[in-house]
Amino acid sequence: MSEGKEPTPLAAHRAGPLAGVVRVPGDKSISHRSLMLGALATGRTRIRGLLEGEDVLNTAHAVTALGAPATKKGDVWEVMGRGVGGLTQPDVAIDFGNSGTGVRLMFGLVAGHPIEVKFVGDASLSRRPMGRVLNPLRQMGVEVVDKRETLPLIMRGTEQLVPIEYTLPVPSAQVKSAILLAGLAALGETTVIEKEATRDHTERMLRYFGTKVRTEKGADGTTRITVKGNAELEGRDVTVPGDPSSAAFLIAAAILVPGSDVTVEGVLFNPTRTGLYTTLQEMGADLTLLNMREEGGEPIADIRARGSKLKGVTVPPGRAPSMIDEYPVLAAIASLADGVTRMEGLAELKVKESDRLAATAAGLTANGVEAKVEGDTLIVKGGRTVPGGGTVATHLDHRIAMAFLTLGLVSERPVTVDDTRMIATSFPAFLGLMKRLGASYEAARGAGA
Ligand code: S3P
Repeated sequence: MSEGKEPTPLAAHRAGPLAGVVRVPGDKSISHRSLMLGALATGRTRIRGLLEGEDVLNTAHAVTALGAPATKKGDVWEVMGRGVGGLTQPDVAIDFGNSGTGVRLMFGLVAGHPIEVKFVGDASLSRRPMGRVLNPLRQMGVEVVDKRETLPLIMRGTEQLVPIEYTLPVPSAQVKSAILLAGLAALGETTVIEKEATRDHTERMLRYFGTKVRTEKGADGTTRITVKGNAELEGRDVTVPGDPSSAAFLIAAAILVPGSDVTVEGVLFNPTRTGLYTTLQEMGADLTLLNMREEGGEPIADIRARGSKLKGVTVPPGRAPSMIDEYPVLAAIASLADGVTRMEGLAELKVKESDRLAATAAGLTANGVEAKVEGDTLIVKGGRTVPGGGTVATHLDHRIAMAFLTLGLVSERPVTVDDTRMIATSFPAFLGLMKRLGASYEAARGAGA
C-alpha cells in the first residue's frame, strides 16, 4: 500500500435513495491468476478488464521482474510468457504491498525455478501467516532462508520439485493454488485434497490455458485436484469479469437505503463465490439475477438490488469459503435486519488483511450497534436504526474501510473511517462509483484529532 503518506480519514453521511446501472472493476482473484498463468504460458496472453488496483499491479511488476514482461497496450494488458520453468532470477526484491493472494500464489510460481527471490510487503502483509503455503512447498523441495514464516523472506526454488499429495489444513484457495502452480513444474502428479470447496479460479483458468486438471469428488465430500508436472500452457485471451466482492458494497448500499434501485452489470457468479447472495436472499433482500451467461470459463450475471426489509439469519460455517471476503459488509447489513444474525465458522477472518472478526465487531460497537465475537462466531443484533457517530479503526484493511463507508449511508450520524488509502489495493473506483449512485462523503479529521 502507499505507506509513508498520511492516513486519509473519511466520513460517510446518510444518503437518499441510490440509483443507477454500473460496472465494477475486474475480479481480483482472476486478475492475479491471469498475469501469473500468462507468465507460465508460452507466447502472448492478452487480458481485458484487468483490475488495476495496487495488489494486482504489484503482481504485474512481479512477473515482469521474473522475466515475463506485463505491459499495458491501449485497454489491454499483455504478458510475454516464459513457459513453465522459464522464469529468471530477478535483480531486486519483489514487493507485494498489501496482497496475500499475490505473494502466496507467487511462492508457488517461483517454487519450480532454480532462482532465489526476496519477497517483501507492507506492515499488514508482514504480519500474515505464510507457513500455510511454505510448509507444503518445503515438502516439495523449496528452501526458505532462516526458516522464516513471515515476510520479508528469501525463497530458493528448485528444478527438482517433488510432487506431493496434500490435504489442506485450512479451507484456503491461496494455499490450494500455490501448490497446484508449483505442481505444474514438479516431477510427476501433484494432488491437493480439500474438505470444503474453495474458489476454483486456478483450476478453471489452467484448463482454459490448455492444461489438464483432474477434479474428483470423494464419497466423503472431499475433492481431489490433480495436476501433472512438466505442464505446457498456451498464451490466451482473457476477459476478467466484474469482482463480486467489490460489487457486494454497492449491492449492500442499495439494499440498505430505502427506495434504492441499483444494477451492477457483468459480475462474476461462480458458485464458489456466491455465498453472500444466498445469505441476502435468505434475509429477504430484493435481488434479481439477469442475463446469466458464461465468459472465459466463468459464469457471469447482472445483479439488480433494491431497498429491502431484512430479517436476521444464521449463516452456517460451511458457507464461509464462498463469502470469506464479504463478512464485514454482511455484518454492516445485519445491523439493520430485524433480529439477530449469527455468522459461524469465521476463524479464517482473523488472518486477513487485519483481524477482520475483531475489527468488524469493534467498528459496529463504536457506532452503537450491538455486536460481539464468541469463539469463531460473529453475532450482530439488528435494530431499526444505526446511531453512528463513531470512528472505525481500519488497520490497513480495504474491506473494513469500505464496509463502514457503506454503513454510514444509513446511520443517524456519520460513520468515520480512520483511513481510506488502502481502498486502492482492490477497488480504486469505490468512492467514485458510490457517489455516482448518490452517496456522499466528506473528508474527516483522524481519530483523536
Ligand atoms: C483468494 C482467496 C481467499 C480470499 C482472498 C483471495 C484467492 O483467501 O480471502 O481475498 O484469490 O485465492 P484464502 O484462500 O486465504 O481464504
